Amino acid sequence: MPHARVLGTGGHLPARITTNADLEKIVDTTDAWIVERTGIRQRHHVAEGELTSDLALKAAERALESAGIEAAELDLIIVATTTPDRVFPSTACILQAKLGVANGCPAFDVQAVCSGFVYALGVADSFIRTGQARTVLVVGAETLSRITDWTDRSNCILWGDGAGAMVLGAADAPGIMATHLHADGRYQDLLYVDGGVSLRKEGACYMRMSGNAVFKMAVNTLDAIVDETLAANGLAKEDIDWLVPHQANIRIIQATAKKLGLGMDRVVVTIDRHGNTSAASIPLAFDTAVRDGRIQRGELVLMEAFGGGFTWGSVLLRY
Ligand SMILES: CC(C)(COP(=O)(O)OP(=O)(O)OC[C@H]1O[C@@H](n2cnc3c(N)ncnc32)[C@H](O)[C@@H]1OP(=O)(O)O)[C@@H](O)C(=O)NCCC(=O)NCCS
Repeated sequence: MPHARVLGTGGHLPARITTNADLEKIVDTTDAWIVERTGIRQRHHVAEGELTSDLALKAAERALESAGIEAAELDLIIVATTTPDRVFPSTACILQAKLGVANGCPAFDVQAVCSGFVYALGVADSFIRTGQARTVLVVGAETLSRITDWTDRSNCILWGDGAGAMVLGAADAPGIMATHLHADGRYQDLLYVDGGVSLRKEGACYMRMSGNAVFKMAVNTLDAIVDETLAANGLAKEDIDWLVPHQANIRIIQATAKKLGLGMDRVVVTIDRHGNTSAASIPLAFDTAVRDGRIQRGELVLMEAFGGGFTWGSVLLRY
């Protein structure tokens, strides 16, 4: 049975940077509070007219370049996003056209909020293992600034825009060793967008969150997914070389690192510069650590995420 191996990675952040000092001008907050409670110092935000698919395209091009793969060779495109360009067509179809891929390969979006990239890797892994695809582009891309309520100080400080991408190819050895995916829709009222297509509502739609409750759930749930992943794969904590967590809050990341007994020097942290970019955060962090030479071929990487739904999951990957 073929395995999904990472052939290349890429990332892209929009040019505009919003610092904590910028936020001090629009809501009642301070740089010190934001840094202490979240670890965030700045985040990138799209310009007027800049779309999720634009960010996805740039990240995808970088990933294809680093993989040495032509876009026409792709036989599956998956985009994880909660902020698609349109209701339809999917952002993956729009990206397919922007990449100039005209080979008829399937393209679709995955919507699992901040766990989106982990879910998308799970889907891509299944396609490769079952022989339905050999060369897959997986992108996490978001323009969360479009659904941010800039009057809600406990919420607007968190979110950033960006995209990260990975090209996976069929190989004889892993690659992706395991994915563990979960959801529990009973918690939807703790983190949601207050409008949508079917649920009609006048005016703009924004993210709403019970921050404290989400924080506690995230720490406990990620604790459990670490145990589940290690046990299911017969691994000890010491076997993990790198933790590439979803970048939601530095305190959540530190709690998972502690659970794994990992020093923060083995944890990829980008939240200080990127904020929470939802489905884009893990591929952006992974790409950052590959490009700066921290994550080396052959090392064992644990990715984990938690997000609206609730959804959560992990990916165990031999790079
Ligand atoms: C949002 C979050 C940073 C808030 O931090 P917190 O420590 O839980 O803060 P609380 O909500 O308990 O608020 C504490 C106080 O700070 C205030 N506060 C909230 N936002 C503030 C801000 N930006 N600046 C200054 N004060 C703020 C609150 O009003 C509250 O004041 P009060 O005690 O006078 O009522 C934190 O709950 C969090 O990160 N939650 C998880 C979010 C997340 O990861 N979501 C995505 C999952 S993928």
